[in-house]
Amino acid sequence: MNLEAAMRLAIEQSERVKGATYPNPPVGAVILDSDNDVAGVGATEPPGGPHAEVLALRRAGERAVGGTAVVTLEPCKHHGRTPPCVDALVAAGVSAVAYAVADPNPVAAGGASRLADIGLDVTAGVLADDVASGPLREWLHKQRTGQPHVTWKFATSVDGRSAAADGSSQWITSEAARADVHRRRAVADAVLVGTGTVFVDDPLLTARLPDGTLAERQPLRVVVGEREISSEAKVLNDDSRTMVIRTRDPHEVIKALSDRTDVLLEGGPTLAGAFLRAGVINRILAYIGPILLGGPITAIDDVGVLSIAHAQRWRFDSVESIGPDVLLSLVPN
Ligand SMILES: NC(=O)c1ccc[n+]([C@@H]2O[C@H](COP(=O)([O-])OP(=O)(O)OC[C@H]3O[C@@H](n4cnc5c(N)ncnc54)[C@H](OP(=O)(O)O)[C@@H]3O)[C@@H](O)[C@H]2O)c1
Repeated sequence: MNLEAAMRLAIEQSERVKGATYPNPPVGAVILDSDNDVAGVGATEPPGGPHAEVLALRRAGERAVGGTAVVTLEPCKHHGRTPPCVDALVAAGVSAVAYAVADPNPVAAGGASRLADIGLDVTAGVLADDVASGPLREWLHKQRTGQPHVTWKFATSVDGRSAAADGSSQWITSEAARADVHRRRAVADAVLVGTGTVFVDDPLLTARLPDGTLAERQPLRVVVGEREISSEAKVLNDDSRTMVIRTRDPHEVIKALSDRTDVLLEGGPTLAGAFLRAGVINRILAYIGPILLGGPITAIDDVGVLSIAHAQRWRFDSVESIGPDVLLSLVPN
C-alpha cells in the first residue's frame, strides 16, 4: 500500500471517532510493515485514553519494526495525559513516519523534527487538504482561534424558503437528508436553536438513529433568546443536557460555548441572520429539497447586505446528492 492509500485508511479511522475525542483531535493512524502491508490501525480514544499511533502500534506488534507510521496529525512530542507519541514510535522501531497536518499547538508541535533528528525518514503534508478540511477541520479551527467552529445547517426549498407561508416546515427534505443531519448531530459538541424554533417546532434536538432510537453520543442542546421557553418543551427532556442562554448577542453565545469544538447551528432565519451578520459562521450546510414553497418565510433574515458589492461571498467546498436532495457545503471565500 502506498502512502496516500494508507492515509485514506487513516482518515477513515479518524472519521469513526469524530466527536468522541474533544478537546483532543480525532486522529487516525496506520502502521505499514516493512513490505508496506497494513500491520495495524488505530484512532484516538476519548480523553485520557491512548492516542491513535499508540493503538495502531499495539496492534502491529513486532511488524512495526522497520515499518512506516502514517498519521493524520503530526505525532506529539509532549507529555499530556498520555506520554509522547514520538517516544512510542521510536520505541516500536518504525523507520519512517508520514503525516498530513502539522500540529498548530505550540506545546505539542515539534514531533516531526524530533523524529527527523533521531534519523527517521519523515514525510509531511500527505493528503493535508483532505485532512484539514475533513476530520480535523473543527479541531484545527479551535486551535487557531480559541473559538468553537460553527456550522449553520438548514433545509430549504429550491426557491430559498425554510417554511411554507403558515410556518409548517416538516418536511422540506427527504428522510435520507434528515438521517444525515442526525449523523452530524451525533458528532457535534453542541446543537443550537433560537427560542423561535422551540416555540414553532418544539424539536427534540437529539441525535437519533433511523429506527428513532437515540444515538450513542448526544450533543449539548442550546437554546438562545430572551424569552422564557415552556418547562414542557421537548428540548428540556432527559435525553441529553440542555443549556439556555438568555441573550441575543452571538458573541456572548460563542463565549458561553468556549469549551466546545464543533457547534451545529440549526436555528431559524432570525438566529442564522444574526450569526452571519456577526461573522461567527465558519461553514454553511444547505440541504436543498426539489420543492417550491414561495411565500414570505425565507431561509435567512437580513444579513446586513444592502448592495451586491457588499454581498457575503462564500465558496462551494463540496456538492453532493443525498437521496432526492442536494447538500451544498460552503466555506468563507
Ligand atoms: N428550514 C430549516 O432548516 C429551519 C430550521 C429551524 C427553524 N425553521 C423554521 O423557522 C421558523 C422559526 O424561525 P425563527 O427565526 O423565529 O427561529 P430562530 O431563529 O430559531 O429563533 C428566533 C429567536 O431567537 C432569539 N434570538 C437570539 N438571538 C437573536 C438575535 N441576535 N436577533 C434576534 N433574535 C435573536 C429571539 O428570541 P427572543 O425574543 O426570545 O430573544 C428570536 O425570536 C419556524 O417556522 C421553523 O419551522 C426552519
